[in-house]
Amino acid sequence: MAESAVSKAQRIRIAALCAQDAPRYRALMLHAYQAAADAFTSTPEERAAEPLSWWLARIADPKGLSHVFGAFLGDELVGTVALEFAAKPKTRHKAHLIGMFVAQAARGCGAGRALLQAAMGLAGDRPGVRVVTLTVTEGNAPAIALYESFGFQAFGVEPLAIATPEGFKAKVHMWRELPPALGGAA
Ligand SMILES: CC(C)(COP(=O)(O)OP(=O)(O)OC[C@H]1O[C@@H](n2cnc3c(N)ncnc32)[C@H](O)[C@@H]1OP(=O)(O)O)[C@@H](O)C(=O)NCCC(=O)NCCS
Repeated sequence: MAESAVSKAQRIRIAALCAQDAPRYRALMLHAYQAAADAFTSTPEERAAEPLSWWLARIADPKGLSHVFGAFLGDELVGTVALEFAAKPKTRHKAHLIGMFVAQAARGCGAGRALLQAAMGLAGDRPGVRVVTLTVTEGNAPAIALYESFGFQAFGVEPLAIATPEGFKAKVHMWRELPPALGGAA
């Protein structure tokens, strides 16, 4: 019998990924670029060509500018999101959310919400961070609803942003301001 959404929701665990997770993070994202092609700007082919060190750098960036969270059902990595912090003095108050994906079988159980909660918690805990930005393909209703439920607002739409087999699609640029008390001093 298939496991219910409620049961899955109770078992979902969120954790920061570490270096040893790189192979399964790579596998999940290569699947994501294929299964949700319109949601991402990368193709499976170009990312498959990246060495494992590329994935390691995203998970365990020595400068601490890139962080990845995973959603686990038991030992299985079923979802992920990444947060990248800017390094330049004039932009280091900003963080950019990328690579949000939950495997089809685990959707609708709260994994996406829990991943975003973890990423926003990290952004809020980092001194000086005042803004989180992201882009989402126009028409991606589940993702836009999720981001809006966290207070993200659209501030622009980039026409012709990505080429897909069905034609060009636009990207909605969204942002969410963090309160100074959470973001700390600039
Ligand atoms: C977007 C995505 C990450 C949501 O993950 P999920 O684990 O199913 O989301 P959750 O179960 O945590 O739901 C959180 C919220 O997302 C929104 N949502 C999720 N599925 C939805 C759907 N089918 N329709 C509308 N809103 C939906 C709702 O706001 C929901 O909150 P609610 O349950 O209180 O209504 C998932 O659908 C996905 O991986 N999609 C393909 C990749 C993608 O689009 N990534 C985003 C790139 S910008």
